[in-house]
Amino acid sequence: MEPLSEKSADSGVGQEIVKNLALLEGEDEYLMELATKLAQPVQVQSQSSETTSMDLSDSLVEELAQRLEKMQPSAQPSVAQPAQPTVAQPVPQPAELPPEPEVDLHVKMHEMISSMDETVQELYTRISDLEKLRAPQEFTEYCVFEPPPGYQELERYWIHKPFVWAAILYSPERNERMYYLVEPALTVGEKTALEILYQNLLERITYDPRIKDRDRLLEAKVNEILREYGIVMTKKSIQKLLYYLKRNYIGYGRIDGLIRDPNIEDISCDGWNVPIFVYSRKYQSLRTNIIFTDQNELDLFVIRLVERAGKQITLAKPTVDAALPEGYRLQATLGSEVTTRGSSFSIRKFAEEPFTPIDLLAYGTFSSEMLAYLWLATENKKNIMVIGGTASGKTSTLNALSMFIWPDAKIVSIEDTRELALYQENWIPSVTRPAPGDRAIDMYDLLRQALRQRPEVIIVGEVRGKEALTLFQAMSTGHTCYGTMHAGSIQEMVHRLEGEPINVPHHMLAALDIVCLQLLTYFRDQRVRRNQSVVEIVGIDPATGALRTNRVFERNPLTDEFERVGESHVLREIAKERGWSALELEQELTRRRQVLEYLHRNNIRRLNEVASVFRQYYYEPEKVMEQIASGKLRV
Ligand SMILES: Nc1ncnc2c1ncn2[C@@H]1O[C@H](COP(=O)(O)OP(=O)(O)O)[C@@H](O)[C@H]1O
Ligand SMILES: [Mg+2]
Repeated sequence: MEPLSEKSADSGVGQEIVKNLALLEGEDEYLMELATKLAQPVQVQSQSSETTSMDLSDSLVEELAQRLEKMQPSAQPSVAQPAQPTVAQPVPQPAELPPEPEVDLHVKMHEMISSMDETVQELYTRISDLEKLRAPQEFTEYCVFEPPPGYQELERYWIHKPFVWAAILYSPERNERMYYLVEPALTVGEKTALEILYQNLLERITYDPRIKDRDRLLEAKVNEILREYGIVMTKKSIQKLLYYLKRNYIGYGRIDGLIRDPNIEDISCDGWNVPIFVYSRKYQSLRTNIIFTDQNELDLFVIRLVERAGKQITLAKPTVDAALPEGYRLQATLGSEVTTRGSSFSIRKFAEEPFTPIDLLAYGTFSSEMLAYLWLATENKKNIMVIGGTASGKTSTLNALSMFIWPDAKIVSIEDTRELALYQENWIPSVTRPAPGDRAIDMYDLLRQALRQRPEVIIVGEVRGKEALTLFQAMSTGHTCYGTMHAGSIQEMVHRLEGEPINVPHHMLAALDIVCLQLLTYFRDQRVRRNQSVVEIVGIDPATGALRTNRVFERNPLTDEFERVGESHVLREIAKERGWSALELEQELTRRRQVLEYLHRNNIRRLNEVASVFRQYYYEPEKVMEQIASGKLRV
């Protein structure tokens, strides 16, 4: 027999039951009574005569026993009036008990307990039924919701309790899922009050950065206006009005709920009379119930959205690429000239986490040996250019390689749109500003500006115009430079650099040390991004004047493996500069490869984690190697 003390857990259950049943208000009196009794703890003594806390009231035990008896009238006749001796008084030593009653007692207790288990089980079932009934009440406290005809509800979840929630719906007929944003429903009176508030609030609330609690201020103003207009409303109605005011003044208006929903990654509006689509982590692309039917409303919405991102959109310049204060990427168009369905916008809520060298290793874009080589080259101030076709992963590789730059380097980066994310603190990121006439700031302006800041390292997002010449001049004057360029081969790169309109003088190209050729290709029917080859620019052949290149690594397209195909001039140079022997150089490469492989094996690939290891390695390589050897690397 189980020790009785284990059943004391029933006390908690009992109280829980009472609490839940109280919500029911007399739904089932019998259960209520039973539960109340269950909740009362009583001191009793167990069989072994040790005092145990047992949470059965004697009357309940009695009652259960009686019920048991009624159920099996002939099975246990001796259990007729038995309950009191068991629980009411201390039970005497087993030895003093007559053998017969002891067995009876055991059997009886056992049965009572199993009967009680059933009752508790029954109560649990009822509670969960009640919970199910009660939950929708919470969801509809402020909101009214009826799925559109033909749709079933798959799931609902809170976005902003108790005002906003989302329902994921499914139509078996159309085989389509839909995202339904549910917001508070307003009565006619509430709508009128909201209109009045809109008209009056703007002039009464002036932006004051000293005011910390804007919610309280808004609430006070709302009450003030309502009082002036003699509008009397319930607290709940006022809550609804405040919700809408905050949504529209402080939040993102009609798409506020979508912005707040952490399950949504992208929001896109393709025009008026087209529903807004979202990209959900769990359900992928979903049509929503939000739709701008008024062209003017959508235009205004887009203008405000762009303003919030600190830029301007006009019919004269109808496209904008910007970042919202939360860091979300916004793309917007105004009017129907460029986008025929009217103004449009798309918001990418999650900036992709930048690639680290460990990501490149994990994706098979580089081998650990190549990365160790590039790490050593970067740390020793060699200039690197990543070239390749569109979307071959140039920028991602550039960002990853930038992590190899020594931690206290003074870095300036130049891009058209912010894509790079570095961990180094002494870093000035800059972006171009497209604008009509001389208000525009292009890469060339930024680069000249950057040089005045005396950077050690310059990173150019994508080299394509006259800034290239300045970049090569910077390389020749001892700055370490990294960049990407759209070119399918070294020849094409050289051709573009030397030709119009860039015109880099031939001899200046020798300032570049390493070129990485990226490729978007197929391997066994899989689309993969690979580094096709790593080529060094050795110098200019004095006899022919040709650019001398040296292929160091090459990818074998049949096996998808990387091979070291040549001796590296860059490494030899580094060894010379550092005073390393050939052996010491190889050892250094091996150590770095081990670090990279360790991180890969242990799936340490996030920017901050990887950065912390690189930083540590820069200052205390031995310590990192020791930690790796003992398998205890701190990140
Ligand atoms: N090595 C890689 N492995 C897998 N995906 C990659 C890799 N590099 C980039 N990508 C993905 O490919 C897309 C294009 O990458 P990006 O670096 O912007 O290319 P590019 O600068 O060449 O146009 C991005 O979505 C990125 O996440
Ligand atoms: Mg790019």
